[in-house]
Amino acid sequence: MFKKIMTFLFVSMFLFGSLTPLCADEATLQKQIDSLKSALPKFAIPMREVGDRFQNMYFAAKGGNWGLAAYMSKYMNGSMNPAMVTKPAEYESWKSFYTETFAPVNKAISAEDFKAFEKEYNTVIDSCNGCHAGMGYGFIKLKKLSEPADSGIDYGLKSKAADVPK
Ligand code: HEC
Repeated sequence: MFKKIMTFLFVSMFLFGSLTPLCADEATLQKQIDSLKSALPKFAIPMREVGDRFQNMYFAAKGGNWGLAAYMSKYMNGSMNPAMVTKPAEYESWKSFYTETFAPVNKAISAEDFKAFEKEYNTVIDSCNGCHAGMGYGFIKLKKLSEPADSGIDYGLKSKAADVPK
């Protein structure tokens, strides 16, 4: 009996002695994670990059700089990564947009086919706007620029879509 009581006391001390600070550490850790999360961009900041890279992609394809077009597409998608953490549900919509709706644009880039690219590019603009409207941002309606968003790149340099390092 005495042995049982001692074991009980020992186990309780062990549990309460170590669990309390463990819980406190977890709470601190959670607080740190939450504050890191709140400092990460949600949709608005990466969407600015999406917008610019999407415009630039067109001029790269038009100029035959297919490597640059593929690169713009790759990092247009990559720029949305913080939303995986900050807006996981909405990120899923972006993910399916990029992997499914946007796939024909990527296919035309891989095929280095400007005619197909232009057709798919123009079509996808409606889907970009459709998501904006669906998420309550119908006032963000895209229009094609007459020049790239970033004029400091040579869009006419000839390259292959496969030139983008993995
Ligand atoms: C999954 C839904 C979704 C898709 C798909 C989407 N957007 Fe957006 N976009 C948004 C939301 C939501 C905002 C408003 C920002 C916010 O909620 O924080 C936005 C904002 C923008 C903005 C304004 C950014 C600013 O603050 O200046 C641009 C530009 C933009 N999107 C471009 C595009 C382009 C180009 C495409 C297609 C290639 C696209 N978006 C596809 C959801 C989407």
